[in-house]
Amino acid sequence: MGDQVNGVISQVEKLQVEDEGAGDPMDEQTVTPWSVQTSSAAGVDYNKLIRQFGSQPVEDALLDKFEKVTGKPMPHLLRRKIFFSHRDLDQILNVYASGKPFYLYTGRGPSSDAMHLGHLIPFIFTKQLQDLFDIPLVIQLTDDEKFLWKDLSLEKANELAYENAKDIIAVGFDMEKTFIFSDLDFMAQCPSFYRNILRVQKAVTYSQAKGVFGFIPDDHIGKVGFPAIQAVPSFCSTFPFIFGERKDIPCLIPCGIDQDPYFRITRDVAPKLGFCKPSLLHSTFIPSLQGAQTKMSASDPHSSIYLTDTNAQIKNKINKYAFSGGQQTVEEHRAKGGNCDVDISYQYLRFFVEDDAKLEQIRTDYSTGKMLTGELKKELITILQTLVTEHQRRRAAVTPEVVKQFMTPRKLNFKG
Ligand code: TRP
Repeated sequence: MGDQVNGVISQVEKLQVEDEGAGDPMDEQTVTPWSVQTSSAAGVDYNKLIRQFGSQPVEDALLDKFEKVTGKPMPHLLRRKIFFSHRDLDQILNVYASGKPFYLYTGRGPSSDAMHLGHLIPFIFTKQLQDLFDIPLVIQLTDDEKFLWKDLSLEKANELAYENAKDIIAVGFDMEKTFIFSDLDFMAQCPSFYRNILRVQKAVTYSQAKGVFGFIPDDHIGKVGFPAIQAVPSFCSTFPFIFGERKDIPCLIPCGIDQDPYFRITRDVAPKLGFCKPSLLHSTFIPSLQGAQTKMSASDPHSSIYLTDTNAQIKNKINKYAFSGGQQTVEEHRAKGGNCDVDISYQYLRFFVEDDAKLEQIRTDYSTGKMLTGELKKELITILQTLVTEHQRRRAAVTPEVVKQFMTPRKLNFKG
């Protein structure tokens, strides 16, 4: 996911129980892969986004089906509807239920080596899906995209792809089932990649692309052609070394909702090219430390927790910057309780505490005033310190040799 703005996540839940027209119609919001902007103080209106994009809300009945089909508890990020929207998730569940194969596809644009916790979320979720379904996964590192959009040389963008790959590998993906690739390098390694790109480019008109991405006359033509490159990992024929000659294996793409425009185009052209339409699961944006209204910015070290932060830095940032839903004084807090909906520490716990009972206890204690803001923050600090330290330990164990193995086109353990 790119750098994103943030919405208070529970807003999604609230809006889902309200009626369709919820939200101020005067609030402007644009969400594209490159910019997320809203004039609303409450952050992104996710229900409105579902309507704008024409995707489907993740509903309880679908989640029931998910558990029924897999026979296992679903990941907490799905249970809490942090992955809140989808396209054809039900169809991919049908594929799985009928014993047929599918694969997972996700990616990252390597624009800096400072990955933060928010960048990790889709990968943590994707790993849980990989474990649950026991299926192959392809991860695209769009170093080409970052060369085109940012002030980065090709060499630097490519280098960042390999640096970011270490963080991704440290999430714990199964090497036997996971292929990670840099676009710049994969293009030279695998003829089917470019061939499928051309097929997509020929099937999408400029005006379609302009309609979806809002290109302007001054945009260089590299940008116009790029969407095809992000589209084709959705097609199994892009990876003959994994899927052989087969053309009929669909994929599921977990991604930030900001990436949906790419896959709307992909889904549109897929049947024309004789390929399967990918299914999608979209996540909300993780709030920045300062709250729902501000953008999480890679250039603002105070807005996020980086994977390279020390324990002391994590503690300081949360104590100093994490927006609090607590009251002004202890007396007032004890009397009125804290507001979990806007409290960033609580919102982060929703992302990182898997145990529902524990999270609910915290929510009750905090919102009744039994738990103070300092205590809530301490809870979060401990959890994030452990998570980041563990991540750093695993990342240190990722040798260049391991990176090379993950990034070599090869047969994966795939049960066709
Ligand atoms: N464009 C994405 C980014 O800038 C990277 C990406 C490529 C991606 N393929 C993807 C993200 C598939 C999610 C799913 O971060």
